[in-house]
Amino acid sequence: MGTLPAEWDAITYDLVAAPMTRMGSVVLDRLPLRGDEVVLDAGCGSGQVTARLAARLPRGRVVALDGSAAMLDLARKALASHDGRVEFVQADLSAPLPPLPPLDAVLSTATFHWVTGHESLFRHLAGAMRPGARLVAQWGGAGNVSHVTNALADVAPDFPGLDGWPGPWWFPTADEVAARLADADFDIDACWLHEEPVCQSSRAALEAYLATPVLVAHLARLDPPDRPRLVSAIADRIPEGVIDYVRVNVVATRR
Ligand SMILES: C[S@@+](CC[C@H](N)C(=O)[O-])C[C@H]1O[C@@H](n2cnc3c(N)ncnc32)[C@H](O)[C@@H]1O
Repeated sequence: MGTLPAEWDAITYDLVAAPMTRMGSVVLDRLPLRGDEVVLDAGCGSGQVTARLAARLPRGRVVALDGSAAMLDLARKALASHDGRVEFVQADLSAPLPPLPPLDAVLSTATFHWVTGHESLFRHLAGAMRPGARLVAQWGGAGNVSHVTNALADVAPDFPGLDGWPGPWWFPTADEVAARLADADFDIDACWLHEEPVCQSSRAALEAYLATPVLVAHLARLDPPDRPRLVSAIADRIPEGVIDYVRVNVVATRR
């Protein structure tokens, strides 16, 4: 296993995860299931979408994989009623995967933009999937959170640790994703971008949401006293509290 990605504040994430759960549930609906399959949730987080997946697999199994031990602890609680049908795996999606059961499908929501080894990500997933297995996924695409990325470019010179850092995210175009999938032995059923703005109701809600999940990797690079200063500087530059999500969506089949 490679170096694990940054730890997340899982409890805070779970409290603010409603937009991700809503978007993730739509992605899950794109996955046709009989109910007896083995399905990987790649980047299961605190398990809110994973629990919906498990409910659709009454005779099947879920592999709930995440890099964060704290996220997996919460996911165990969210999935407690599906005990015995869920395997929890701590692993880095940037690295070759640990041994997994042959997968009938892979679901992934709001995760792949955090994966630094995205050049090999789809090859690693393909290696664990049966021929004909479906991949349904959604994550940040080209132009995602541009209010935030523009604000970061503005303020980075004031924050040692951010200046000159390219940032943690991979926000690809649909064409780039389709090319990567084809290289990794997938047939592309559909691959597209869509806009999904999420409005925060107050300045406090916006700052909390920026701190977790949006800026989690940026804040980890700063000294603790600089962290609230960054959140506030970015919040000042977000018009009307709108997180301007652009998502890339994929439905693909392992050859
Ligand atoms: C925004 S959360 C999404 C969680 C969940 N899928 C959802 O929709 O709520 C992103 C998750 O990706 C995980 N993650 C980020 N980079 C990862 C990596 N390289 N390997 C495994 N998990 C990773 C984080 O720990 C976090 O739980």
